[in-house]
Amino acid sequence: MSKFRIPEDFLWGGAISANQAEGAYRENGRGISNIDLIPHGISRMDVKLGKVPNPVLDKNAYYPSHEAIDFYHHYKEDLALMGELGLKVFRTSISWSRLFPRGDEEQPNLEGIAFYRNVFKECRKYGMEPLVTLCHFDIPEGLIRTYGSWRNRKVIDCFIRYAKVCFREFSGLVKYWLTFNEINIVLHSPFSGAGIAFEEGENRNQVIYQAAHHMLVASALAVKAAHEQDPEIKIGCMLAGGSFYPYSCNPKDVWESVKKEQENLFFIDVQVRGHYPSYAGRMFEEKKVSLKIEDGDLEALRYTVDFISFSYYASRCVSADMENKTANDGNVVRSVKNPWLQTSQWGWAIDPLGLRTTMNQLYDRYQKPLFIVENGLGSKDEIAEDGTIQDDYRIDYLKQHIGAMKEAMEDGVELMGYIVWSCIDLVSASTGEMSKRYGFVYVDRDDEGKGSLQRRKKKSFYWYQKVIKDNGEYL
Ligand code: BG6
Repeated sequence: MSKFRIPEDFLWGGAISANQAEGAYRENGRGISNIDLIPHGISRMDVKLGKVPNPVLDKNAYYPSHEAIDFYHHYKEDLALMGELGLKVFRTSISWSRLFPRGDEEQPNLEGIAFYRNVFKECRKYGMEPLVTLCHFDIPEGLIRTYGSWRNRKVIDCFIRYAKVCFREFSGLVKYWLTFNEINIVLHSPFSGAGIAFEEGENRNQVIYQAAHHMLVASALAVKAAHEQDPEIKIGCMLAGGSFYPYSCNPKDVWESVKKEQENLFFIDVQVRGHYPSYAGRMFEEKKVSLKIEDGDLEALRYTVDFISFSYYASRCVSADMENKTANDGNVVRSVKNPWLQTSQWGWAIDPLGLRTTMNQLYDRYQKPLFIVENGLGSKDEIAEDGTIQDDYRIDYLKQHIGAMKEAMEDGVELMGYIVWSCIDLVSASTGEMSKRYGFVYVDRDDEGKGSLQRRKKKSFYWYQKVIKDNGEYL
């Protein structure tokens, strides 16, 4: 039997994000954000809002983010539950438009700051370290309308102003920060990921990679600002992770997987190494991208992150001949169906060993501490007649993934912690549904926004509580 033990200071956690949980979308001075513009029933991955998204909301439509699970008013109750669960770290994000309602103001909204201070103090009351993402798929609508979001470099200044306010105002309360959630998702879901809409006939790649350049400069300058505020701060990047398997050993499939891996890790290569990778020149040429890089940008990129965080839900599978293969429809990242893997109710491949593979590959490539900040199963849950929720499928999924994670740690991978997505049910990022549930705590709310919002612990709550207590020995 293995003698391997998870280190005592390992950060077991649970996560939510502001736009999927808080609601209170116009309260106490908050401005509208990109996600607030997306009504129920539209795939978040495929928003076609035209040239300028329409900020006039449709009175007859239902917008899931407007109330979400109302964490804004339930945060004390919810954090008490997370304290009971025994979390060492609670991951959330700050809603940028709660601090800067339009995005380009000089001064922040003090009521927004007060809210997050209360949240972080409450976390500390239960001994939970907050891990905070500055930008989790949200951007103030004012920045989209006025500047076209990240396609305009003026947004870098707005972001840095916002980031500096966060580091200053939450100093002493928050030690762990992330700049952008799943920064590579801008390639696949540009509007919901980064507020980017396209004009007719535009070269999408040109817009996306120029925006990505601005985001990478902004991320690096935020790292600099964080360390200037407090050298003890640990700030990381965040990747939508999952290795790209070749569909077969046909060298063409293998080459396709190498290319997709580079495309995916492009952002992390910059954030960790501090410069554009060697393959970028040819990649841009093939995608007909010509980056506008201004004086000082390349120097700014040298401020590299302290650790690499990532989400892991599934591995991906690619082929040189994608068109003639069965697509894996559920995946946000285009992928073909892997015949070796089962899928979730939403068609996401289930591949625990893929987590070990991903961790080994990331660590081999970067030799920096890793942090799993999202892993979990989106599933429908039923309340039994006795009021319990027997989510054994979720326990089984997590058990297998934690097992694979431990194997990777034993392989020598340095891992700071493991965070489950999500610790409480919330609105799905890709579909806007409530019925795609991930939590240890059930929230009574349906896809149309009906329900009492009452919270109820699932079977997995008690299971994860034991896992944390035994530091991963009990699975
Ligand atoms: C990640 C996001 O992509 O996956 C989360 O960071 C998201 O915001 C999670 O909720 C699961 O995806 P979904 O679409 O099932 O909510």
